[in-house]
Amino acid sequence: RKPVSLRRLAKMKAEGEKIACLTVYDATFARVQDAVGVDLALVGDSLGNVIQGHGTTVPVTMEDMVYHTRCAAAGLQSPLLVADLPFASCPGPEQAIHNAARLMRAGAAMVKLETSRAQIEIVTALAGQGIPVCAHLGLLPQLVHKQGFRVQGRDEAAARELLETARALVEAGADQLLLECVPRELAADITQAAPVPVIGIGAGAGVDGQILVLHDMLGIPPGKKPRFVHDFMADAGDIPAAIAAYVEAVKSGRYPQPEHGFD
Ligand code: KIV
Ligand code: NA
Repeated sequence: RKPVSLRRLAKMKAEGEKIACLTVYDATFARVQDAVGVDLALVGDSLGNVIQGHGTTVPVTMEDMVYHTRCAAAGLQSPLLVADLPFASCPGPEQAIHNAARLMRAGAAMVKLETSRAQIEIVTALAGQGIPVCAHLGLLPQLVHKQGFRVQGRDEAAARELLETARALVEAGADQLLLECVPRELAADITQAAPVPVIGIGAGAGVDGQILVLHDMLGIPPGKKPRFVHDFMADAGDIPAAIAAYVEAVKSGRYPQPEHGFD
């Protein structure tokens, strides 16, 4: 397969082909994802949870992100590699550019940051340097101590604010949006209005693509799992087959089901 480009993702949105995305933290899983046709692999700061064992993503540093981006990049050929800018790594445009450039040099082809209106200047600055940007909206795990872990955009004012912020971020130069834990109708509205691909997690089926945390979709963490997680390992013989089944389920629209989303 050819490397997945921004142009290719735009074509997938235009043609209604769902974009299959997963998080990745190392070269071995990157090779598996590459082989089974994952379109976009994200070095998520969820590594704070699934790799480092913290309760939140707040302790994750730029050094951690650079290290895991390098590891993942070593195993990837085709999927677009995206890396997260971690907690408080973008206090201003200059630091944002400096840190995004570190992730790009480590092998990322796009950076993702958690956004509200307050990040419009940062997104403008990154776009101005030719750095591809994914704006993460809705539930923002880095804001756990302010926002908690709850569905966002549920009342009318919050829904309007999310729609308008999404529009403003695209105007500022965001190449992609990611919606986390947003009611399915609102997520579908944002996707319809957005000229760029919209990836969802807990955002229903009306978005352009889906993402899950790798360890979650393999059914590894014990205990109660988030509502939007499906364990693809349960019906698969091995890990490559589980990841292939996920890609197939996203492409065919069999994942997510209504019970994975929010009203
Ligand atoms: O860090 C992460 O894994 C993420 C995804 C859940 C979207 O940001
Ligand atoms: Na993240």
